[in-house]
Amino acid sequence: MKLALLWLLWAQVPAAQEAAWSEREWAKARAHTPLAEPRPNPTNRLADDARAARLGQRLFFDARFSANGSVSCASCHAPDLGFADGKSLSTGLGRTTRHSLSLWNVAQQRWFFWDGRADSLWAQAVQPLETPKEMGFDRVSLGRALRGDAELKREYEELFGALPDVTTWPARAAPSDDGSELALAWQRMDPQEQRAASRVAANFGKALEAYERRLQRGDAPFDRFVAGAAQALSDSARRGWKLFAGRGNCRSCHSGPAFTDGEFHNIGIPPLAGGKPEDPARYAGIDFVRADPFNARGEFSDAREGERALELETLERTPQNFGEYRTPSLRNVALTAPYMHQGQLKTLAEVVNFYSTLEGATPIGHHQEQVLQPLKLSASEAADLVAFLESLTGAAPSAALLAPLDARR
Ligand code: HEC
Ligand code: HEC
Repeated sequence: MKLALLWLLWAQVPAAQEAAWSEREWAKARAHTPLAEPRPNPTNRLADDARAARLGQRLFFDARFSANGSVSCASCHAPDLGFADGKSLSTGLGRTTRHSLSLWNVAQQRWFFWDGRADSLWAQAVQPLETPKEMGFDRVSLGRALRGDAELKREYEELFGALPDVTTWPARAAPSDDGSELALAWQRMDPQEQRAASRVAANFGKALEAYERRLQRGDAPFDRFVAGAAQALSDSARRGWKLFAGRGNCRSCHSGPAFTDGEFHNIGIPPLAGGKPEDPARYAGIDFVRADPFNARGEFSDAREGERALELETLERTPQNFGEYRTPSLRNVALTAPYMHQGQLKTLAEVVNFYSTLEGATPIGHHQEQVLQPLKLSASEAADLVAFLESLTGAAPSAALLAPLDARR
């Protein structure tokens, strides 16, 4: 009996020693925790307003803001699927060409979407609303729908002032150059009316942003371990951190408390359908965000001269941006398989295997600023890295935030 116990103790020593962190590793770990509050967004004066967040929560789960009344934001950002949808390519009214992004900790980002084509959460929200394959709605119908619901109308007007009179508006209309009925109807609208309809769309986004800013999920085993809870991480996860921070060099892109540099890189993930990558990604995203009427410099912004507006002015597009995607946050990553911009990789083990072998990576032209090297991990090292990634799942906030609000309460 005693011998067996001694043997057990002895056998565990090497694993624990291997998993111990050096002072340098501790210092690096402290740069990733705790998760900070989202930084203020003065382009939305209601970004941190509790009433706006309540309205946003109603709008988020409401499928009436879609062409056929069946798609809401939650269709592709489901709270029980890590605020994503578990699919490779998201499907609303039609199938999109990208993988859904999780909304946990989304307010930590500076540029939104895989290609960063929106510079705020409120500007972002207008896009799924009007994209034919997502909600296929339009800002004119939105104004009418809000007016038509007494409760929503009251809440909206308390925050943003009177909803416009929609009686002279066409049935549906949205700006676009696709020659569709919607586009033609939009062109026939008076500029005053167009502006009023666009303002409703911007305000819809501002309420949604106030809600999304509350979707913080920190306090993961990793945070607790670094804060002193020695039992919070397994030996395997602790060895995984050493790889992440050391030989894996993962922190050079997945940096800071949100485990992302907020920047765009091309790591050579091939398109889901095979063939050569044709999606310009960040290259097109820069043009889009600079021209977006809902950006920080635009007339619907509450801080047109602020820091965000300045950032936009200095944003330059270079050939290197072609095919670059935003570094995803790794917090809560275990909740949102599959992975990458088209959900090309099914599991975290597949992701780690990619970084280990770079098998199937598309050759990246001479434009790429940083070429990954295959890490050639052993099977147990790969398992350690996965265990570390799994230790980034935080404690969920109050369940009241994660379900539709009853409109009459
Ligand atoms: C049909 C599915 C679908 C619907 C409906 C949808 N989204 Fe998304 N959402 C996506 C996909 C896919 C992406 C990534 C697209 C891209 O990057 O090009 C995304 C990206 C986002 C992002 C950017 C996250 C980040 O990290 O940059 C936010 C925020 C977001 N959606 C919020 C919303 C809101 C709010 C609504 C409702 C108004 C909504 N979405 C409706 C599929 C959807
Ligand atoms: C050169 C910057 C860079 C480095 C270094 C890097 N990553 Fe990434 N990572 C990215 C980018 C960019 C993506 C998204 C790529 C895409 O979708 O095409 C990504 C995606 C991921 C994803 C998928 C997340 C999701 O939600 O889809 C995981 C997990 C991940 N990386 C982990 C790691 C690990 C572990 C390492 C170290 C072995 C690492 N990364 C090194 C930039 C980097």
